[in-house]
Amino acid sequence: MTQPRPPKPGTAIVTGASSGIGKVYAERLAARGYDLVLVARRKDRLNGLAADLRRLHSVEAEALVANLSTPAGLSAVTARLSDDASISMLVNNAGFSALKPLAQTPDDTIASMIALNITALTALSKAALVAFRQRNAGTIVNIGSGAGFSPYPGIPVYGATKAYVFLFTQSLQQEVEGTAVRVQLVLPGAVISEGWDVAGGGALDPLPDSIVMTTEDCVDAALSGLDQGETVTAPSLHNGALLAEHIALSGKLLQSVFDAAPAARYSAGRLQRA
Ligand SMILES: NC(=O)c1ccc[n+]([C@@H]2O[C@H](COP(=O)([O-])OP(=O)(O)OC[C@H]3O[C@@H](n4cnc5c(N)ncnc54)[C@H](OP(=O)(O)O)[C@@H]3O)[C@@H](O)[C@H]2O)c1
Repeated sequence: MTQPRPPKPGTAIVTGASSGIGKVYAERLAARGYDLVLVARRKDRLNGLAADLRRLHSVEAEALVANLSTPAGLSAVTARLSDDASISMLVNNAGFSALKPLAQTPDDTIASMIALNITALTALSKAALVAFRQRNAGTIVNIGSGAGFSPYPGIPVYGATKAYVFLFTQSLQQEVEGTAVRVQLVLPGAVISEGWDVAGGGALDPLPDSIVMTTEDCVDAALSGLDQGETVTAPSLHNGALLAEHIALSGKLLQSVFDAAPAARYSAGRLQRA
């Protein structure tokens, strides 16, 4: 007697699936039975991956070629999220960095980075949120970075875009409270990928092996966090309590910062003017 097949988990859209972390997400989700919509600019890579996933995992997999830094590319993917009721997961992974001080970063690089890391992630999150809340089902995974915790030399714009992802995704989690929609924030540390070449040739070389994770370990840990019901997953952070403290302290600061009266330490100037 044959076992009944488990229900299909639906379709996952993975942005930035042509390499690195996104490619491993696509592979792992296909192994879990998801059909895949693979988004990035490099069509040949996406088509090759889609063919591999179909062959290895007997799932549907297609390439959706889009430049998410452009309005046209972005709207092609938001439209898919809005129109395709089979979509049950969005992995907002596409992003890039430039390892340069602000003064040396070209204006068009800054604009594309903000357009991809912030604008696209926000618009795709919104499209998924609206569709998933209507169906009261679905999972959004936003890839932030440990670089968003605190300023790190040489990545002023990248770090700030990831700080945005940190705050924005936690706000998104508030918007899905009381629904069956899930939102996970993933905060990788340093991960071996082509992203380091994009950021600036050889940037990964000076980092000791002991602090750089493989894409496979990163994605497997992130999926383990998702399976365990985590809302925030930092694959390479061994002291998880630090993250909880950071989030709790941010909440305390928010509660404490609103007051009509200036803080006592600023009262000297007021007394002088009086
Ligand atoms: N590697 C790390 O150390 C690390 C650490 C923390 C967080 N992260 C984050 O992890 C995510 C994935 O990075 P990765 O390390 O895996 O880098 P990666 O190998 O360079 O992958 C980036 C992906 O994004 C796609 N992409 C870039 N620009 C795009 C655009 N304008 N439109 C559509 N797709 C675009 C790329 O494909 P195409 O070039 O084909 O478009 C590629 O598939 C990023 O958000 C990154 O910030 C990485």
